[in-house]
Amino acid sequence: MTRLDPPRPAPAGGAEIFGVRFQNPVLLAAGTCGFGRELTGVLDLEALGGLVTKSVTLEPRAGNPAPRVAEFDAGMVNSIGLANPGLAVARDEKLPWLAHHVVRPRVFVSVAGHTVDEYVALVEGLHEAPGFTGFELNLSCPNDQRLGGRAFSLDREALEAVIRRCRAVTDRPLLAKLAPNDPDLADTARAAAGAGADGLTLINTLPGRLLAPATGRPRIGAGQGGVSGPALRPVGVQAVHAVSRAVDVPVVGVGGILRAEHALEYLRAGAVLVQVGTASFAAPRAAAGIIRGLDRRRDLPPPWGPGPRTAEGSSPGAAGSHTVSSSPLETA
Ligand code: FUM
Repeated sequence: MTRLDPPRPAPAGGAEIFGVRFQNPVLLAAGTCGFGRELTGVLDLEALGGLVTKSVTLEPRAGNPAPRVAEFDAGMVNSIGLANPGLAVARDEKLPWLAHHVVRPRVFVSVAGHTVDEYVALVEGLHEAPGFTGFELNLSCPNDQRLGGRAFSLDREALEAVIRRCRAVTDRPLLAKLAPNDPDLADTARAAAGAGADGLTLINTLPGRLLAPATGRPRIGAGQGGVSGPALRPVGVQAVHAVSRAVDVPVVGVGGILRAEHALEYLRAGAVLVQVGTASFAAPRAAAGIIRGLDRRRDLPPPWGPGPRTAEGSSPGAAGSHTVSSSPLETA
């Protein structure tokens, strides 16, 4: 499991999670920031807590038919179809760029496949590349089916197999991104942690469909897609609340975060990190505003501040066992 990347400078302050220091809790979500380079000149990447790359598949993918995105009053529906340049380009071009240009934020590479073997090949193929901290296993894309069945995160046997086998080929932190349309997400989360996931990203988009009222035709090319944006936030906060009390690995909250208060909602529910997704499409600097908004607060819950984690005052398992610093949030 030899790695080639040089040690990265540890930012002062912040919090240690997954064995590395994060300067603040705000990451960009997979599929919303490409491989970072796409945002050069738009957003100061160095201000971020981290970013998750576009999901990488073994071969390049062109993606689903247009239109791929449609808005509605409470968010949007997307079906991109995991368009990405594939493993070789990610390894040889995208990650080396990140290694040279993104120093303080922690980078996670999202990977997606149709079979367990594909995930293992992706993790093995990227493990030694420079420029990133760990993997986010995308086990819950609503727009790309697992060969022969439901999404990995909705099939217990497949979920455990993919995490266990990826765990065996990398010592980098492994996040498992789970689906919201799960009848017992807390139980799925326990299974994922038991199989070797170091953390859980909650949640992916929720399957949904928008129709043109006049014709009844779907408003996106693939027909069905994934709902994101404000409509997803209560679903995500509930997922984080339930799961962070069921597992003792860190939980990363994502879904409908537009402002610092929304990020704080997730942190109070039990997340130790958050990801900003859809907000960046409308306002590419949204994450920077959220970081500044959190930085101004003196009531953040651990590990980012001394405030209570939840209104009920209960303390999820992850906060104490996987974070070592409660230094004040660093100004980004
Ligand atoms: O269509 C897509 O690429 C969506 C991916 C995801 O939600 O994981």
